[in-house]
Amino acid sequence: MYSNRIEGPKRGRSFDSMNTTFEEKQLNNEMNKSSFSKIEENMNISSDRGRAAMVFSLKNEVGGLVKALKLFQEKHVNLVHIESRKSKRRNSEFEIFVDCDSNREQLNEIIQMLRSHVNVVSMNPPDNSCLVDDDMDSVPWFPKKISDLDKCANRVLMYGSDLDADHPVSRSEISSSYTGDPIPRIEFTEEEVKTWGTVFRELNKLYPSHACREYLKNLPLLTKHCGYREDNIPQLEDVSCFLKERTGFTIRPVAGYLSPRDFLAGLAFRVFHCTQYVRHSSDPLYTPEPDTCHELLGHVPLLAEPSFAQFSQEIGLASLGASDEAVQKLATCYFFTVEFGLCKQDGQLRAYGAGLLSSISELKHALSGSSKMKPFDPKVTCKQECIITTFQEVYFISESFEEAKEKMREFAKTIKRPFSVRYNPYTQSVDILKDTKSICGVVKELQHELDIVSDALNRMNNQIGV
Ligand SMILES: [Fe+2]
Repeated sequence: MYSNRIEGPKRGRSFDSMNTTFEEKQLNNEMNKSSFSKIEENMNISSDRGRAAMVFSLKNEVGGLVKALKLFQEKHVNLVHIESRKSKRRNSEFEIFVDCDSNREQLNEIIQMLRSHVNVVSMNPPDNSCLVDDDMDSVPWFPKKISDLDKCANRVLMYGSDLDADHPVSRSEISSSYTGDPIPRIEFTEEEVKTWGTVFRELNKLYPSHACREYLKNLPLLTKHCGYREDNIPQLEDVSCFLKERTGFTIRPVAGYLSPRDFLAGLAFRVFHCTQYVRHSSDPLYTPEPDTCHELLGHVPLLAEPSFAQFSQEIGLASLGASDEAVQKLATCYFFTVEFGLCKQDGQLRAYGAGLLSSISELKHALSGSSKMKPFDPKVTCKQECIITTFQEVYFISESFEEAKEKMREFAKTIKRPFSVRYNPYTQSVDILKDTKSICGVVKELQHELDIVSDALNRMNNQIGV
């Protein structure tokens, strides 16, 4: 019987050992069963080296299948699965699906022979089933596993050289020594706590009318679990533990700016590189670079939101191994969403960008009605100039994180890379999908996930008596 499992039927049975007459009869009896189409849809990714799947058509005549299958016998190619159905293309023909297991040479021979005897409708020949490694030579290095981020985290671009010598950026000495152990707890000075308190108090006045609902939902949780208070600067270790439970994100302290490539690479692993120092007390409402107020009040509440966390990670995954030009485009999209994004909720504009949610003046400006706005469209947004020292010239609006995510997914598909990547949460690594074997592995995992869904639905139906 046809199986809609990608891995195909049980192995260990070859054409050589089959009773062909019986098999043909049995196949014809199963002709109307519908799993064929599912297999055909998936067949292009269903083999690894030494295995091939194909569909060929036969005229409806006695012995046609036997003749075709004899070709496999002559070439000593094992058939591990075979199915048939009435052709959807021509009424007078039948289509045969075969899954072969043999060495590459034999498979290539049988493919050539079949082409001269029957009409091959579809196949995944083993001779093009994977990319040659040369294709990876031009790909920029990128972290493959979470520990590879050690190579990125200390490549800080700038330390705020325009600031006073006593600027708290000296905390970078602590941050940059971090190697994965618990994040060191900082004993903030009274002055730092006072600066944080001013920012915290003023922003909290604006949040109810300016922040998106996801932000407003998560902020009280941070007060409860991480000590978000006017008189207390939360510790990154507590915040990181909280985020890990909520969305799998963790915080990694960093001494200052990372390159867009290194920063986005962290997001791919759900690691958020985060500064640990407080802005200068001389101007609590302004900082020329990200500080702990920006990270804790701007970013963290939304990193605790699953849909937003997913959105952030997908930008990161899209950046891995991408060209410098593509990374720049992704970084610009990140800037106008995660940093300065607006969304519509209940007919009102709300901020979800951390750059807005940590800046009293720009948060007011962005939602004042006088700022310029455009719908978020990665193709357009990626060309917009990012402004660091003053307000943005334009803000981009998304209907929801889901919508922004979908748009970014489509945009990511246009980025030229000789592979795709998939995050493996069990190993905290990225699977590089560039051949049928690796893709087949993902399909098997998805099949397992679908089995779980199917089981859950069955149990639910049993409970309600359906
Ligand atoms: Fe930021």
